[in-house]
Amino acid sequence: MLDLAGVGAGTTVLDLGCGPGTFAAAAVARGARVLGVDGDRSAVAAAAAAVPGADFRIGDAHDPPPGPFELVAAVQLLQHVANPVAVLRAAGRVGASVAVTTWGPEEECDVRAFGEALAAWLPPRRPPSGPPPLTDPARLRKIVGLAGLTVGAEDEVECPFTYPDADALVGPLLASGIGRAAAARAGEAAVRKAVLARLDVNRTRTGGYVLRNRFRVLVATR
Ligand SMILES: C[S@@+](CC[C@H](N)C(=O)[O-])C[C@H]1O[C@@H](n2cnc3c(N)ncnc32)[C@H](O)[C@@H]1O
Repeated sequence: MLDLAGVGAGTTVLDLGCGPGTFAAAAVARGARVLGVDGDRSAVAAAAAAVPGADFRIGDAHDPPPGPFELVAAVQLLQHVANPVAVLRAAGRVGASVAVTTWGPEEECDVRAFGEALAAWLPPRRPPSGPPPLTDPARLRKIVGLAGLTVGAEDEVECPFTYPDADALVGPLLASGIGRAAAARAGEAAVRKAVLARLDVNRTRTGGYVLRNRFRVLVATR
C-alpha cells in the first residue's frame, strides 16, 4: 500500500481510523510525517505509545483535520463507519490522494476462522441482503466514484497477522464483540479451547500463530 500510494520521506499522511498505529508505524519508518485519527480513545493512546514519531488525536473520520495532506489512508476503516461515501468525500477534501483497504475474498482470509470457531455460540449469519459489501471490488469503485474521486491504482496484498503465543491470539478476541458474545454464552475457557483447536493449523514451530490474509488496496485521486 505504501508503494502503491508513493509514500516516502517527507510525505504528509493522514491515517484515518489509525487503530493501534500499525500503518502509521510503517509510514513513519519510510520517513513520512503522519497524523493518526481514531474515534477510540484507547486506540489513540496505544498508537501514541507505539509510534512516538507520529502525532495522534481522537476524532471522527467523517470530519477529518483540514490538512492538507498528500495522502489520506483508510486502512480497514470503511466497513466500520456510518457513511463510507461521506468519509471518502471528506478524505478527498483534505488529501491529494486517498488510499483504502478492504478484506479480500473471505476464503483467502484466515481471520474467518475466529467466526467459524465461535459459530455455535453466535447468531446464525444472515444471508446477504442490500447492496454488495465493500469487499466487492466493483462496489468499492462505485462508492469511490460517488465520493467524487477517481480510481487510480488497485492491488491485492498479503497481510499476515502474527501472534507470539496463544494468549496474544485469544486475548484480543475475548475483548472483541464476537468474543464477548460467545464468552457470555459459553464461558471464556470454552471460547479459548474452541479457538485454539480451530487455529491449530495456523500454529508455528515456536508456539506462535500466523493467520494469512489478503487485503484489497485502492488508491484514488480527486
Ligand atoms: C479494524 S480497525 C483498523 C485499525 C487500523 N487502521 C489498522 O489497520 O490496524 C478500525 C478502526 O477504525 C476506528 N473507527 C471506526 N469508526 C470511526 C470513525 N467514524 N472515526 C474514526 N475512527 C473510527 C475504530 O476505532 C478502529 O480503531
